[in-house]
Amino acid sequence: MKAWLYSSATGGLEKNLQLNLNAPQPRQPLFKNEILVEVISMSLNPADCKLPELGLVSKALISTPASPGLDYCGRVVATGSVVDSVRIGELVFGKLEKPTQFGTLGQYVVVTHEDCASLPDGVDPDHAAAIGTAGLTAYQSILPYVKAGSKVFINGGSGGVGTFGIQIAKNAGCHVTTTCSTPNVSLCQELGADDVIDYKATDVYKELVARGQVFDLVVDNAGTPLNLYKDSANFLKPEGRFVQVGLIISYVPEFLSERGL
Ligand SMILES: NC(=O)c1ccc[n+]([C@@H]2O[C@H](COP(=O)([O-])OP(=O)(O)OC[C@H]3O[C@@H](n4cnc5c(N)ncnc54)[C@H](OP(=O)(O)O)[C@@H]3O)[C@@H](O)[C@H]2O)c1
Repeated sequence: MKAWLYSSATGGLEKNLQLNLNAPQPRQPLFKNEILVEVISMSLNPADCKLPELGLVSKALISTPASPGLDYCGRVVATGSVVDSVRIGELVFGKLEKPTQFGTLGQYVVVTHEDCASLPDGVDPDHAAAIGTAGLTAYQSILPYVKAGSKVFINGGSGGVGTFGIQIAKNAGCHVTTTCSTPNVSLCQELGADDVIDYKATDVYKELVARGQVFDLVVDNAGTPLNLYKDSANFLKPEGRFVQVGLIISYVPEFLSERGL
């Protein structure tokens, strides 16, 4: 089996990945609810790098050499005895439930049937492979908290989670304000954002306060500015929700202190 493997992530995961043509295979036989998938396409998210880069914590959780990656699209090779949702040979996509030694940057992955869906006709496998983690995160951080007409602020609309978030919120009938850097303003507009704040050119917090206490939901995919949560009463309605998705690891102590933790 072919797989991109790392044994250490010192200096950054991407500098430590090596293609191995005789990588260890995922465990066989399958448990009854598992599916063996040959990967066609996968996508990497920030979490795929952040965990291995934690060093000893990562080593305690994941044996190495390991492949990173949760998201995938591929073809079913074998199924456990109770799996009837997909057939051998069918194209499927999804995400692994949690990081493992056998991530999706390898030729074969074992997934459970809960984390695997049939690929709809006409969907490009490369596109489907990018949905799992970022798409689900965006869905879970927005859809339970909005209704048609809700005003949503998405901090970081041009990234993996934010690009799904803008589209999900617009599809739910929301008004969307978002942030991104200057080159990505047109991308956010094309995805449907009504109001785009360029964080490179303006002060995001001041811009939000200027819009007033109007938002029903704030989703923070960026983790900055650090006072966004603490001072959110200045732009979030009293009954509004704040969902924290992104964190910048080096800011964690300051971030927790801003939240009184
Ligand atoms: N990917 C996932 O599925 C997932 C799941 C759970 C949690 N998370 C966490 O959520 C965070 C976002 O993930 P992602 O995949 O969307 O990351 P990403 O693709 O790197 O996107 C980051 C977003 O934040 C924006 N941004 C950067 N600096 C900013 C600032 N100072 N002010 C406002 N916006 C700023 C970026 O805009 P520009 O690109 O225009 O600079 C971009 O829209 C990460 O911390 C990640 O670990 C991700």
